[in-house]
Amino acid sequence: MTKIYAFANQKGGVGKTTTAVNLGAYLAASGRRVLVVDVDPQANATSSLGFDKNSLSLSTYDALINRVPCSQIIASTRWQHLELLPSAPALAGAEVEMVHLLAREHLLRKALAPIADHYHYILIDSPPSLGLLTVNALTAAADGVIIPVQCEYLALEGLTELLRTIMMVRDNLNPRLYVRGLLMTMYDGRTNLSAQVVAEVQRHFKDRVFRTIIPRSVRLSEAPSYGEPILAYAPRSSGGLAYQAFAQELLNGDEGQGTARVGGKGPQRAPTVARRQEV
Ligand SMILES: Nc1ncnc2c1ncn2[C@@H]1O[C@H](COP(=O)(O)OP(=O)(O)OP(=O)(O)O)[C@@H](O)[C@H]1O
Ligand SMILES: [Mg+2]
Repeated sequence: MTKIYAFANQKGGVGKTTTAVNLGAYLAASGRRVLVVDVDPQANATSSLGFDKNSLSLSTYDALINRVPCSQIIASTRWQHLELLPSAPALAGAEVEMVHLLAREHLLRKALAPIADHYHYILIDSPPSLGLLTVNALTAAADGVIIPVQCEYLALEGLTELLRTIMMVRDNLNPRLYVRGLLMTMYDGRTNLSAQVVAEVQRHFKDRVFRTIIPRSVRLSEAPSYGEPILAYAPRSSGGLAYQAFAQELLNGDEGQGTARVGGKGPQRAPTVARRQEV
């Protein structure tokens, strides 16, 4: 069964791309076939996996606007089982061009449909906005949205707006959309602030916060400049171990293995239904 998740938060720099790329790499290393879909014109996921965004002949833009089949665009990465639907700067113009297209919110979902069965996981990295590209990502996200939240002051700011958008998409475009979980990122153990932010987010979102917390890790910030996921660049770093643990937590929840629970309140599958009602 394919799982399709979008990574969204209109706040910039919270760890969407870092999470999509590194989670994808660990899932692939565990033998799952993974496709990372880059729908951000910044193309950070594309460069983080070692591609030059300026020298790609085809990109997500062509899948959305020119209806080029994804199978002709998808690139293999240097890591087994890990493939990429790359972005390119041209995607910046897509939101304007999409406005005139029929079923413009469903373009990504329709583009992915013919190839989805080939993968165990499709991870969609979206841009820092709530525009049409993010709405396309949410509409295609058949199994939910993962929201990275940075452990910093005002972390909750903007989440109400994001949840409202998610509800709007669920009610009108993708009835299966729900919040798969919030992932706390860039945790700094040396400050009280990080711990306070985690406590506050857990108070608000309870069992929807993933147990795994991603620490601030210099290695994680260095890896993209080498075009490598942390699994290849520094697997024993704190960031590497954290993303490995996150991949395991997600797999346990998705595949019902062991006793892993998200947030410690019952098996993952049961609260999923309840959560759908409340987004
Ligand atoms: N846990 C971490 N520790 C240290 N640096 C990190 C961590 N996670 C991400 N970074 C760095 O922080 C920056 C922002 O991360 P990232 O690009 O993943 O965020 P984003 O939400 O995708 O940003 P955007 O909204 O611009 O797409 C990047 O330079 C990344 O390398
Ligand atoms: Mg990004």
